[in-house]
Amino acid sequence: MSFAPVKPAVHHPPLKVADDTWLIQQMQEAAIGPLFIYLHSLVIKGPEPIIVDTGTPANREQWLKDVFSIVDPGDVRWIFLSHDDVDHAGNLAPVMEACPNATLVVTWFLTERHGCDFHFPLDRMRWVNDGDSWRAGDRTLTAITPPLFDSPVTRGLYDDRTGVYWAVDTFATPLPGPMNDISELDAAQWKGGLELFNCMNSPWFKLLDADKFERHVDRVQKLDIEVIAACHTPVIRRPQISQAFDTIRKLPSLEPPPQPGQVDLEALMHAVATGQQYVWEPPAPVN
Ligand SMILES: [Fe+2]
Ligand SMILES: [Fe+2]
Repeated sequence: MSFAPVKPAVHHPPLKVADDTWLIQQMQEAAIGPLFIYLHSLVIKGPEPIIVDTGTPANREQWLKDVFSIVDPGDVRWIFLSHDDVDHAGNLAPVMEACPNATLVVTWFLTERHGCDFHFPLDRMRWVNDGDSWRAGDRTLTAITPPLFDSPVTRGLYDDRTGVYWAVDTFATPLPGPMNDISELDAAQWKGGLELFNCMNSPWFKLLDADKFERHVDRVQKLDIEVIAACHTPVIRRPQISQAFDTIRKLPSLEPPPQPGQVDLEALMHAVATGQQYVWEPPAPVN
């Protein structure tokens, strides 16, 4: 039996989401129902092109093709790695090998955490802390911790030329199918998906001081954001941005969502064995 990750069956081509800015797309089906999760990364062109996160090993071949259909590997000047999760760092080695003129922008702590999986070249790195900026040709890029995150090293990225903010794992939501913009999703479904996914991915939300969290979210929302791009959501544009932040701000008042257990795994296996579609039904809340 092979344990290699399964390649995506459907190719979602790169999508231009702002001037000089393309989403590199991948979609993964959830095991527990007819829901899909995006696994995006980003390419920013310009005098000093930037790759933002590096996709997944499951999609390696197509990811490299998609990225290098937009930018020549020799022209890539920067590779920004938001954090060390496999859906963000999955092609770090091949992309560093392919782009000899690229500097890897990370936090110091990421190099310590991820050194068991990747040999970090000290002379090809730039270390950034929260709030640090650097000039990349015609734009200034700033590393800003997003409202929610699932790794201590996570940094988002703000591009002052386009107003695109890479929010990493924040604003993640499951989808019924592919879409290019969050405005295509039913508003109630979006709110429920934002609450569910972000509570699960940042389970420390229940430990938050609500006032301190408000100030943390304010810092990001006060950026002059035109477009939120992130790994697990279609892009969120100006008309929906305040709604996205409003939903995230209320997380500390929510209860942790129920999650599937062994009984549900057995039901899933039975459905697979009998050729049926499995849809997980969360247990009713106990009053
Ligand atoms: Fe993550
Ligand atoms: Fe992620």
